[in-house]
Amino acid sequence: MFKPRVYVTRQIFSDALDIIEQAAELEVWPDDAPPTPEQLREALADADGAIINVMDRIDAPLLEAAPKLKVLSQVAVGLDNVDIPEATRRGILVGYTPGVLAKATADLGFALLLATARRVVESDKWVRNGNWEIAHHPMFWLGSEVNGSTLGIMGMGGIGLEMAKRALGFDMKVIYHSRTRKPELEAEYGFKYATPNKVIANSDFLSLHVPLTPETHHLIGEKQLKKMKPTAILINVSRGAVVDTDAVYKALTKGWIAGAGLDVFDPEPPPVDHPILKLDNVVVLPHIGSASNRSRREMHLLAARNLVAALKGERLEQCANPELYETLGI
Ligand code: NAP
Ligand code: GLV
Repeated sequence: MFKPRVYVTRQIFSDALDIIEQAAELEVWPDDAPPTPEQLREALADADGAIINVMDRIDAPLLEAAPKLKVLSQVAVGLDNVDIPEATRRGILVGYTPGVLAKATADLGFALLLATARRVVESDKWVRNGNWEIAHHPMFWLGSEVNGSTLGIMGMGGIGLEMAKRALGFDMKVIYHSRTRKPELEAEYGFKYATPNKVIANSDFLSLHVPLTPETHHLIGEKQLKKMKPTAILINVSRGAVVDTDAVYKALTKGWIAGAGLDVFDPEPPPVDHPILKLDNVVVLPHIGSASNRSRREMHLLAARNLVAALKGERLEQCANPELYETLGI
């Protein structure tokens, strides 16, 4: 019996692979490091479907070289690595995994906020270097008080909301800006809507949760960083290019802001000699927002179900280009 060919560009949970294997011939990229663009092109050349990852750049030349593709199933909510209009033009359905990762990603965002405010990573290094006795000084390691401060959210979607809800547990005030105002959240949680400039200027912690689009590229640059409080901390768990990284470096070294917690970077991976990595007032993580056992498993299972649905000619649970359903007659 004919079985479609599916390529999975990174190891995923085995029960997600089982779902795919019932419907397709399966091949999985074996290495921990992602495939290079050439290796990805070769892997997808003969594939009917693929499970892909944020590190896989899916552009028009790659799609041109993969003429059999019917579905791309992304293990992520952000889709800035995929040329969706081009996929749609070619009749390729694009699946993704919103929702199931929002709480875990907000947990990580809050971990970054607390770690940066209270200098957790910096002071841990002192202990490991044998400096406990000097470090335990009444005037050392003074950080920012989180409780009672103001959290500014840019992008009040699934993750922004979870981040804001966590802030309430820390007695923080929440102000936000989003493309669409959310009166129901204002009524339920007391969040205050403001213009981007007001959110930027009044936040003690400015947390970014917008998708990366042409409108949000470098949303936070030199001009915005200069408007922030000099005591403020920038948290980015969205995409690296939502901030101008050179401007953030400048802001951190010139004292325009006090610190930054970055789960994402532009570019990823950052060059090992990037000057930002030398600064103590920054915590940098390797894009691990959704990396909890539960969320990652749910993402893998949802991505597998999205992929199999498309291969069977059915609607996906989460589809980024549902306008194709009509064209495809499903
Ligand atoms: P979401 O539910 O779609 O929320 C995004 C929010 O941003 C929406 O509320 C949206 O619009 C708002 N928005 C979009 N464009 C905007 C603009 N130009 N100005 C202001 N607000 C704008 O997505 P999510 O699940 O929260 O995820 C958000 C992003 O986080 C993803 O796209 C991804 O890049 C990133 N992410 C990172 C990790 C990680 O591991 N670090 C994990 C998951 C996701 P409305 O106001 O109209 O609702
Ligand atoms: C991760 O970065 C995601 O977009 O889900």
